[in-house]
Amino acid sequence: MCGIVGYIGFQNATPILVDGLKSLEYRGYDSSGVAVLNQNTIQVVRSEGKIIHLEDKLQKSVIEGCIGIGHTRWATHGKPVEKNAHPHIAHNTVLVHNGIIENYEELREQLRSEGVQFSSDTDTEVIPWLIDKYLEKEGDIEKALYKAISQLKGAFALALFSKSDPSTIYVAKNASPLIIGVGQNETFLSSDIPALLNHTKEVVILDDGQVAKLRADQIVITDFQQHVLDVTPRTITWSKEAAQKGGYDHFMLKEIHEQPSSIADCLRGRINDIAAEVDLSELSDPAFFDGVDTISILACGSSYHAALVGQYWLEKFVHIPVSVEIASEYRYRNPYMYPNTLSIAITQSGETADTLAAFSLAKSKGAKTLSICNVVDSSIARMGDEVLYTHAGPEIGVASTKAFTTQLVLLALVTLHMAKKNKTMAQEDIKKLTHDLLELPRTIEETLHMNEDIENICKQFTKARDFLYLGRGASYPIALEGALKLKEISYIHAEGYMGGELKHGPLALIDDEMPILALSQRGVLNEKMKSNVEEVNARGGQMITLSEEGDDTYAKISDVEIKIPHVHELILPIIQTIPLQLFSYYIAKRKGCDVDQPRNLAKSVTVE
Ligand code: F6R
Repeated sequence: MCGIVGYIGFQNATPILVDGLKSLEYRGYDSSGVAVLNQNTIQVVRSEGKIIHLEDKLQKSVIEGCIGIGHTRWATHGKPVEKNAHPHIAHNTVLVHNGIIENYEELREQLRSEGVQFSSDTDTEVIPWLIDKYLEKEGDIEKALYKAISQLKGAFALALFSKSDPSTIYVAKNASPLIIGVGQNETFLSSDIPALLNHTKEVVILDDGQVAKLRADQIVITDFQQHVLDVTPRTITWSKEAAQKGGYDHFMLKEIHEQPSSIADCLRGRINDIAAEVDLSELSDPAFFDGVDTISILACGSSYHAALVGQYWLEKFVHIPVSVEIASEYRYRNPYMYPNTLSIAITQSGETADTLAAFSLAKSKGAKTLSICNVVDSSIARMGDEVLYTHAGPEIGVASTKAFTTQLVLLALVTLHMAKKNKTMAQEDIKKLTHDLLELPRTIEETLHMNEDIENICKQFTKARDFLYLGRGASYPIALEGALKLKEISYIHAEGYMGGELKHGPLALIDDEMPILALSQRGVLNEKMKSNVEEVNARGGQMITLSEEGDDTYAKISDVEIKIPHVHELILPIIQTIPLQLFSYYIAKRKGCDVDQPRNLAKSVTVE
């Protein structure tokens, strides 16, 4: 995610920037830095780790000036070390960036051939050098900025200033957030509204494709084609705490609603929409998946449920044997390792002790290793031969939401990538699915419209003591995930079951006090699930069904029917997850539970 701040006015910028960064620390915390202009000298101080380390450094090397920018980083390209911390500086221009520049390698090569020496491993550093290059040619920073922007592909929120125009901060936005705070003879900048509220309640929320020229007493906004736009500031009435959660009551709800953008970030640069194929060229070995005969996936908790969905997809679409292992068990077995095994560790934090130990065991037994992680440069990310990051951004709520769905998206990408390589899927089907994946952020947005309906449905279930979730096929792990979400945040006992297993025991639990949530399936499994639902009805259980629009299989046999958009079977488990997240959230909220920090749990489980 990363956080950006900026200030131009009559006060010393440094303490204002540091305060702003502290408010934005939730957006990333692996390094931070500030740049201030003092008598035509750009002073930069950067530090690895949390903002507190930057503050320590600033005590020793005081920097002062009335114009400055700052950044707190959530690493995407380049390790979280000081040389990769922002701001990044060229000869004349200093810049901070939030987002991912997809074509940075190409730009880097081009600039390198023109004599630029880069001092970081980031995608960001190409931007100040590109601006400097055009500044030299055009003699005007504004023109240079427009020219540079026209060369960037990807997501960016940028803030920069240049020695060539010492009274202006320039900003540009495409897909990452940027808010301008309007003061009295001072102008503020931030990635979110709360960081501005100590200074002003008047804000301009920039739209994609806009550039702003910020002076202490003037703000000019244009589009990328340099047309001036008429934008009026709006007044914010939220408290600072409410604003930190983006106006949501809890981080979990905010993170549920962030899924369209976190999934867009996860997909960014990984689908070549012209060739309609998955592009995993970020892997250092282009032949990484060649010769893989079997896959073993290691994970815990929600990440384990994502792995189970991946198993279903890989077996079905890549025709490859896949085993999924609970890491805490695997590490104490003496697992047999087939030759040519690919071991995949899935983890949000990248620090889960059991997953780390299991992955290390797989590696020691000679497996090829791939990590699927959210936290960049975490221990598990570093351990794998290759790593694919989910790019979900920091997840603050203990219950995994956006990290889980981005793990599924990456597994879908790996499935399509391998299916193409192994020729196990028709090109037409791959094309259709890559298109559907690109549409996924919009489909999730549409699914999230049911927020209030789910809130209403939940009212009748807050007193339940137990819950059963039923699924089959790739929806079975989603039943497990729905049940885990409910128990961890609402403390209601819940179990996920395969529909076909009901008659082998759990049916004995069902009476008119027991709610059951059944997930619809595809093809023959839908008929089977219908029979399971009827078995439950015959015993008086309260039936909630979750099915796709256009599927009326459950219309007459459900007490409550929840409808989701009709999607491809590979996308279905991702969409089914959304109402289940909302369902557990609203039940927990109505019960007055501590949704973001449920009792006895920690976000990252670094002990056994
Ligand atoms: C549940 C949840 C946990 C984690 C598990 C693994 O909502 O978040 O079950 O999924 O502790 O954590 P990571 O993915 O960090 O390895």
